[in-house]
Amino acid sequence: MAIKNIEALKISGKKVLMRVDFNVPIKDGVITDDTRIRAALPSINYVLKNGGKAILISHLGRIKSEDDKKTKSLKPVAVKLSEHLGKEVKFVPFTRGAEVEKAVSELKDGELMMIENTRFEDYADGQEVKKESKCDEELGKYWASLGDVFINDAFGTAHRKHASNVGISQHIESAAGFLLDKEIKFIGGVVDNPQKPLIAILGGAKVSDKIGVIESLIDKADKIIIGGGMMFTFLKAMGKNIGKSLLEEDKLDLAKSLMDKAKSKGVELILPVDTIAAKEFKNDTEFRTVSCDEMANDEMGLDIGEASIKLFTEKLAGAKTVVWNGPMGVFEMENYAQGTIGVCKAIASLDAITIIGGGDSAAAAEQLGFADKFSHISTGGGASLEYLEGKVLPGIAALDK
Ligand code: 3PG
Repeated sequence: MAIKNIEALKISGKKVLMRVDFNVPIKDGVITDDTRIRAALPSINYVLKNGGKAILISHLGRIKSEDDKKTKSLKPVAVKLSEHLGKEVKFVPFTRGAEVEKAVSELKDGELMMIENTRFEDYADGQEVKKESKCDEELGKYWASLGDVFINDAFGTAHRKHASNVGISQHIESAAGFLLDKEIKFIGGVVDNPQKPLIAILGGAKVSDKIGVIESLIDKADKIIIGGGMMFTFLKAMGKNIGKSLLEEDKLDLAKSLMDKAKSKGVELILPVDTIAAKEFKNDTEFRTVSCDEMANDEMGLDIGEASIKLFTEKLAGAKTVVWNGPMGVFEMENYAQGTIGVCKAIASLDAITIIGGGDSAAAAEQLGFADKFSHISTGGGASLEYLEGKVLPGIAALDK
């Protein structure tokens, strides 16, 4: 791909339209995780320092009613961004129109503004119109008309073909921001040209969420380590008793065929040897460490055990690239967090390119204070999974001129 980088653009004195992914969790008006805001700062600071006039656009959540608009304004995000930058972020509570155009025309070099949630365009006059989400031609053209150049730094949205990313790119000179560039370098690097040995650690509740990734990585990885709720579908497929553990019955054949495929390709597929099991799905209940060969019918596995952490740590030794996606257990509950903590520590201590593919595992690394020990923590959830699956992401492809 020949994607232009932010540094190839002339910024000084230009109106620089910037698509960022500020789809951050907000509870009662308070942002509970501002990782995505911090991740966009290098590009924003670059534009401001180089004398650009920055016009920021982003989505936030999904808008399916007028009520959604009340709780999904980007205003609190503008306030948080302003705190990080130590300068005013002019927030315009519209997605288009006279107020937006006036604010753009009044912007001075080195100043920035933000317009309202792009997905407000998905609902109008009492119905879902999906102008943003269906990449409405006229809307993309309108937003493009606000700027001289376009920087797309919204990796989290790169798997969407929307007016605010793909639509705009079709009308003005466009380039990738520093964040998008870094995501392409690291996650694209795993897919296209990984330093070997490449080891993937996949967790999370369901096999069905990870099928594409496992299939894609079977062709690239040297080892695939599986934990999390989905491990039980694999263990069951191997003929083990998994008690009341999470099972995707309709994915048993698939699990078997993935294991066969890995074997035939010489990829080592590693499963846990023990689990932390309880009779109820709650933190405050009795639990025990049990071998995956000895689970009782009335218990469910909620984390990997110590022997599995040790096994995974040994299997990771010597890796040159590690990609991790998905927690090893129900890490939100204290008693079932040790597996995820253990794996996180093991990966963080490696002398390798270490990548977290977004979502829950990224949140776990942040919470555990290990974020700076990884080469890259992706800001994408769905986007990083689809990228790892080897899919072409429309938001990135649109920049390839
Ligand atoms: C995400 O959080 O994965 C991105 O911001 C995309 O959001 P979406 O799934 O609502 O398109």
